[in-house]
Amino acid sequence: MKDTHKDEIIESNQIYIHDPHSYANAADAVIRHLALDLNVHFDTKILSGKASIYFENITSAKKIILDTRDLRIERVTLDSAGTKADFTLGKNDPFLGQALTIDIEPDTKFLTVYYSTSPDAQALQWLSPEQTAGKKSPFLFTQSQAILARSWVPVQDSPGIRFTYEARIHVPPGLMAVMSAKNPQEKNQEGNYSFRMDQKIPAYLLALAVGDFTFMPLDKRTGVYAESVTISKAVNEFADLPKMLDAAENLYGPYAWEQYDVIVLPPSFPFGGMENPRITFATPTILAGDRSLTALIAHELAHSWSGNLVTNATWNDFWMNEGFTVYFESRIMESLYGKDFADMQTLLGVEDLKETIAELGEKSEDTHLKLKLDGRDPDDGMNDVAYEKGRLLILLLEQTFGREKLDIFLRNHFKNHAFGTITTEQFIDEYKRDLVGTDTAKEKFINIEQWIYAPGLPSNAPQIKSVRFENVAAQVEKWNSGTKASRLQTKDYTTNEWLRFLGLLPQKLTHQQIKELDETFHFSQTGNSEILFAWLEKVVNNEYKENYPQLKKFLIDIGRRKFVKPLFTALVKTPEGKRFAKEIYKESRPNYHYVTQTTIDGILNK
Ligand code: BES
Ligand code: ZN
Repeated sequence: MKDTHKDEIIESNQIYIHDPHSYANAADAVIRHLALDLNVHFDTKILSGKASIYFENITSAKKIILDTRDLRIERVTLDSAGTKADFTLGKNDPFLGQALTIDIEPDTKFLTVYYSTSPDAQALQWLSPEQTAGKKSPFLFTQSQAILARSWVPVQDSPGIRFTYEARIHVPPGLMAVMSAKNPQEKNQEGNYSFRMDQKIPAYLLALAVGDFTFMPLDKRTGVYAESVTISKAVNEFADLPKMLDAAENLYGPYAWEQYDVIVLPPSFPFGGMENPRITFATPTILAGDRSLTALIAHELAHSWSGNLVTNATWNDFWMNEGFTVYFESRIMESLYGKDFADMQTLLGVEDLKETIAELGEKSEDTHLKLKLDGRDPDDGMNDVAYEKGRLLILLLEQTFGREKLDIFLRNHFKNHAFGTITTEQFIDEYKRDLVGTDTAKEKFINIEQWIYAPGLPSNAPQIKSVRFENVAAQVEKWNSGTKASRLQTKDYTTNEWLRFLGLLPQKLTHQQIKELDETFHFSQTGNSEILFAWLEKVVNNEYKENYPQLKKFLIDIGRRKFVKPLFTALVKTPEGKRFAKEIYKESRPNYHYVTQTTIDGILNK
């Protein structure tokens, strides 16, 4: 591949919003293009090679500052001449890492950092063959959001800084590599892969996965990557993906990234999904066999607009990514599966939100939509509030101004800010100008500042009704007042109804009751990870030891933090549970990615 981006990467000056989670001096010298050339060493768990940073020197600065974390920097050179550059690595902050400050000349166009990653690089998870579905080949994946990209690429790692990129990745023969870029659909024997991403993205969307997986198309612009033992299950599970993409475009405008694929990762993937552009990274725990957990794919797809096309300027504006996306996800699901389905999902989300607010405290600043993460690990402040309170605000706008008006507003929002960033405050201005206009009485009712800058759930939050959930409540009532589980009317229950059913059960259950429920509904045997998780929470909270083998297996096999965290939290509440938690964690910790490890370390060391 030849370097097509040589010298002139000059752009109109963009206003750079100060980001408390990046060392970058982007107002002075800012990256415009990245060229990576990396070797993937499974034996030493290291990526080594070089990163060329093509930048714009806005103020004729004498230095450019990049973010790094635990990187071994060998040398830095300037331009094609390869002149050695002086550089310093700053003080090591526990979560920001180190500033890499490089001396540049006024006419320097690009610099090249020769480096390697640490075997403990926070973004990377290196899996042994046993930790994969096929058990034969190793696997590597990255998780860069929120500020972990800097642990595998020296880069200006702020959501407000966008750049195009290209990469050459060298992997052991027989393995395939994919990135958040234009991807290969077939293996090549030498293990040399080239990538281009011609649309500019922020660093948290840099992504790489390497393993023995294959590609199957769903239609001409969507497809699935998975290990060969999983691929047909995955293709079946995601069969509606082309329709989801059509629905999304009908709502909020053309898909900007050409291709949309999903890669199914090994079960240690710490999240449900990650919206890496052109290729969503997904947990295998959504492969339920009945397509009942695919809202997660609609969610990651929706990020192709909210998040990837229009990006939160800093992590304090995280709700601009997630709240809009949850709303958008729900609209996609509604257009494919109807309002009943979408309303059930929303109600489940609202229940989660209420729990989260109760846990954090109704007055907690972490329940604001606009966050104050300065000086903290952004990961600590990212919870359901951004997702569900954010969703409810957009839903309130829908109910107040009407769907038609809101949709026009959002379509324009995505068009006007495409490939750019947005702060909460810019959004408030835009909302007042383009949606409220002269309808000031409506905004008086909404009081957007209260939603964004005040804690808890405002009293004007939309109320959602679901007839199907009312029926579930009636069945749980019957059971509470003595009707046998086998006599309840649950025949046509979908996953959402089961989740509601489990959510409505009393906190405290006798072992006799748990046994009856499990013998009737076989919760502990289900292949549906969401239902099993909800069941295991009951199991732990009531110390129902009969299901501890299933609990242990679940925690060892799966590294998805959303499941693992609440189960460990519940376990450590009793001394005996804590002992069991430690016993499990000894075995399970090596299967977890850094972000899950950090969370569980915190719970067990309290
Ligand atoms: N972008 C997030 C995942 C994320 C958030 C990673 C913050 C790191 C920091 C992704 O889109 C997401 O929200 N995933 C959810 C699924 C969704 C259906 C709510 C998850 O992983 O559970
Ligand atoms: Zn999301």
